[in-house]
Amino acid sequence: MKHTLLTVLVLAGISSVLSYPMYYWNDEFVPWIPKYSNLTNMKCPNKTCTPDPLKHQWTREDCCVCRAKPLWEVPVDSTVRLQLEYVRRNGIAEVFSEEQNKSQYYSLYHSQGYLSKLPINICAFPNIVRIDLQSNELTEVGNLSCLSMLDDLDLSYNKIHFIGNDTFNGLTNLRELRVTHNGLKLLAPSTITAQSLQIAKADFSHNDMCSIEFSNMISESDFCEITFKSNNISEIVNTNNFKIDPNKNYTGGIVDLVGNSFTTFIDFETLGITDIAILGKVLSYGFVMPDVKWTCDCHMEPYLELAEHIIKRIWRDYFNISCWLPLEYRGKTIPDIVKEGRLDIFICNLTVEQKCPPKCKCFYQPKERRTVVDCSGVGLKELPRYVPSGNRFSNNLTLIFKDNNITHFGNRSYLKDATVLDMSGNKVATFSHEAIEMLPEDIDLNFADNNFKKVPRAFQTLNPCKSKFGDVTIDCGCDTEWMKTWANNRGLKQCSNMSSLVCETDRGLIPVDEISVDDICKQENIMITISIIFSILSTLIMIIFGIAYLFRYEIYLLQRKYFLRNSASKVGFLLKYDAFVSFNDENDELRIWVLNVLVRHLEASGYRLFVPCRDLPPGSIKEEEILEQIINSRKYLIILCDYYQQNDITWTQIEWKYIWCHFRQYMERNIIVINFDQLETSEQTDPKLRAFVRLGYDIDFSNRKHDLFVTVKSRLGAPLKSLFFRGNKKTKFMAHNLITNKGSFDPFTLVDSTKIKLEL
Ligand SMILES: *[C@@H]1O[C@H](CO)[C@@H](O)[C@H](O)[C@H]1NC(C)=O
Ligand SMILES: *[C@@H]1O[C@H](CO)[C@@H](O)[C@H](O)[C@H]1NC(C)=O
Ligand SMILES: *[C@@H]1O[C@H](CO)[C@@H](O)[C@H](O)[C@H]1NC(C)=O
Ligand SMILES: *[C@@H]1O[C@H](CO)[C@@H](O)[C@H](O)[C@H]1NC(C)=O
Ligand SMILES: *[C@@H]1O[C@H](CO)[C@@H](O)[C@H](O)[C@H]1NC(C)=O
Ligand SMILES: *[C@@H]1O[C@H](CO)[C@@H](O)[C@H](O)[C@H]1NC(C)=O
Ligand SMILES: *[C@@H]1O[C@H](CO)[C@@H](O)[C@H](O)[C@H]1NC(C)=O
Ligand SMILES: *[C@@H]1O[C@H](CO)[C@@H](O)[C@H](O)[C@H]1NC(C)=O
Ligand SMILES: *[C@@H]1O[C@H](CO)[C@@H](O)[C@H](O)[C@H]1NC(C)=O
Ligand SMILES: *[C@@H]1O[C@H](CO)[C@@H](O)[C@H](O)[C@H]1NC(C)=O
Ligand SMILES: *[C@@H]1O[C@H](CO)[C@@H](O)[C@H](O)[C@H]1NC(C)=O
Ligand SMILES: *[C@@H]1O[C@H](CO)[C@@H](O)[C@H](O)[C@H]1NC(C)=O
Repeated sequence: MKHTLLTVLVLAGISSVLSYPMYYWNDEFVPWIPKYSNLTNMKCPNKTCTPDPLKHQWTREDCCVCRAKPLWEVPVDSTVRLQLEYVRRNGIAEVFSEEQNKSQYYSLYHSQGYLSKLPINICAFPNIVRIDLQSNELTEVGNLSCLSMLDDLDLSYNKIHFIGNDTFNGLTNLRELRVTHNGLKLLAPSTITAQSLQIAKADFSHNDMCSIEFSNMISESDFCEITFKSNNISEIVNTNNFKIDPNKNYTGGIVDLVGNSFTTFIDFETLGITDIAILGKVLSYGFVMPDVKWTCDCHMEPYLELAEHIIKRIWRDYFNISCWLPLEYRGKTIPDIVKEGRLDIFICNLTVEQKCPPKCKCFYQPKERRTVVDCSGVGLKELPRYVPSGNRFSNNLTLIFKDNNITHFGNRSYLKDATVLDMSGNKVATFSHEAIEMLPEDIDLNFADNNFKKVPRAFQTLNPCKSKFGDVTIDCGCDTEWMKTWANNRGLKQCSNMSSLVCETDRGLIPVDEISVDDICKQENIMITISIIFSILSTLIMIIFGIAYLFRYEIYLLQRKYFLRNSASKVGFLLKYDAFVSFNDENDELRIWVLNVLVRHLEASGYRLFVPCRDLPPGSIKEEEILEQIINSRKYLIILCDYYQQNDITWTQIEWKYIWCHFRQYMERNIIVINFDQLETSEQTDPKLRAFVRLGYDIDFSNRKHDLFVTVKSRLGAPLKSLFFRGNKKTKFMAHNLITNKGSFDPFTLVDSTKIKLEL
């Protein structure tokens, strides 16, 4: 048997009422008009009330609400008892009175009867002030609205299962109501606390209610006690959305909830009270619920934060209660926990349905005004997609993601609500800039033991004294220069225990706040210069190679002229002809000029020339013969004209191929180009001939009037005849000697025309 002091007092009060003559024997009753009603027939003991030690202010008003009596009870009961007579079998009865004095107060007593309804003629006695129908068969209260004088109604031990909220309408004088032991299941909202009612004592104990309406516990008018003892109430509901008005005073009384199935204290927050502190101001109530198996969770905490005198008042048995759940605190009394300052243990665990990430532990901790999400070591590979939101403290998140495998610090909208973020012991190497920018400025950050080599600049808005990075070796570059300012301006030194950021440089590891720009930027400058130079060079080389390729024949000709001339040998005297004359003999004008002018002139000067269209022996294989004569010629005289090189294969092209081939192979051979049609460089399709023209190695035909022949002759050099006067009959013989003597040096060894490679 656990009773609170108050319950004891209340019981004492009730018993004092019952033992009235003894208790108040010498007490004087004086008229009293309640503050919240128009009752004129009340008398209150003149004796100073013994103050209730737990009541906030035990005023005379409070005292009279509980102890006043109507004048027909003082000093002794003066009511006239009505008689009752069953008029039908099914519990229908009538009342009557032997005394016929209409101004008298009546009372009705009928216990252990069979009444199934209120007596049918009860409205004939509007002066009834007391009805006691205990232990009957009533299934409903019935229509009592005609009994405006009714002061005391007792319907205990009946079978009333439901009481609607219009039942007591009009009973403005009703002060005491007892409906105990009825199997009552439902008491409609605002049934006993409607504004027109002033019920001072209501007793609904020993019924079957599972829930109780909030509006039946809170009244604007004073009351002494409302009792819901020994029901099966586990929750307080608010179906009609009753609201406590913070601008009103709810002077109240005591609500007795002993012997129910509660596990937590009344959650006023879900009943629309946003600030428990307001409750302490407006509610002069006491709730009595000593025998609850208390769950010490977040719902309890707000009350424990209230000033002690307020908790003591509201929560009557507060000093005697202990936790039942969670198991780790079972048996610990709440006042002890409060004294030890351990209000932080009053938490509510959040489930996956409440958006707690899988495998994580989430809870809501009113003492710290925060929601904690603890995902330590659960194998996360990325930041959780969501965390609990929408509760009162989800804008103050403590996120513990340490010891996971997170590699990227990604963008999550909840990061903006984080006040603590522990990312230590992960593998973070990259950061999303949005994510860092979302972090509040004064966040408590821990990024120790991760894999990053760069600290993103977005961190510079954060306080280095609250951002722990641990020992990080940074890949410093010009872009990390900001860290020096960051570290110096915001006093990283004082917080050296938080982070030790060092740069890797040529001079070894240097703390970021001591780094100089040169240390981190110079190396990069050199690298940049080198790379620029390198790229310029490589471009240049590319261009040179391109040009060299484009002008490869020009280069070859120049090279031949300036570097390879010394290797000219004297084999010239072994050859048959001074020059092989190659030209397009289909061009009549050209042929006539060549044969009649050029060749004639040169032969007259003693040169021996081979002109294919003139000297080819009839019946010979033309290509072989040409090749042989090319081999036998010291120089090649090319007469360029419009048709010398064309796309179709012509004889001149074949001649040219062999000529060039020989020219390449033997240094002493030479090509003399006469530009008959004065062709421009661009008009030459063959790149080799173009090179001659471009280099100006050709002899301009327009020159002929002055010194064309002189130039040609000087290029041809002295004619063979003058060097080798023994005549060409001996040439072959000499050649044979040469072959045997000098081997591969002699051009004749290469005469085999099929073996000449045409590289072009
Ligand atoms: C606390 O409970 C004990 C019995 O369990 C009782 O004797 C005591 O009076 C109670 N104290 C209060 C303040 O209710
Ligand atoms: C008290 O009487 C006044 C007028 O006499 C009336 O307006 C008021 O409603 C009454 N109050 C109650 C609670 O009956
Ligand atoms: C009520 O008690 C006070 C003293 O406590 C006394 O002065 C007063 O006369 C009493 N009133 C009546 C009506 O007895
Ligand atoms: C009726 O009752 C009142 C009050 O009890 C009393 O004053 C009055 O004399 C009675 N009248 C009769 C006729 O008995
Ligand atoms: C109760 O009876 C009165 C007449 O006495 C009537 O006006 C009223 O409507 C009845 N109320 C209900 C709920 O039946
Ligand atoms: C009376 O009860 C009904 C439900 O039984 C509810 O809807 C209604 O709001 C209540 N009336 C008042 C004045 O609370
Ligand atoms: C009390 O209510 C619970 C459900 O809230 C129910 O399971 C239990 O049977 C009820 N107990 C009694 C005695 O009615
Ligand atoms: C409520 O009580 C406070 C003092 O306890 C008082 O100042 C205030 O006027 C009261 N408000 C109302 C509406 O009665
Ligand atoms: C919350 O969960 C932890 C285990 O995850 C448990 O030990 C604790 O008792 C729970 N607390 C509450 C109030 O349910
Ligand atoms: C947020 O939570 C921290 C504890 O992590 C607490 O100190 C702080 O007061 C809370 N902030 C607010 C605004 O409630
Ligand atoms: C992280 O990943 C490695 C393998 O990649 C694994 O061995 C280790 O257990 C993981 N750590 C956690 C905390 O899951
Ligand atoms: C980052 O998250 C915010 C908020 O969820 C969103 O508005 C933004 O588009 C995201 N940015 C990127 C790049 O995902």
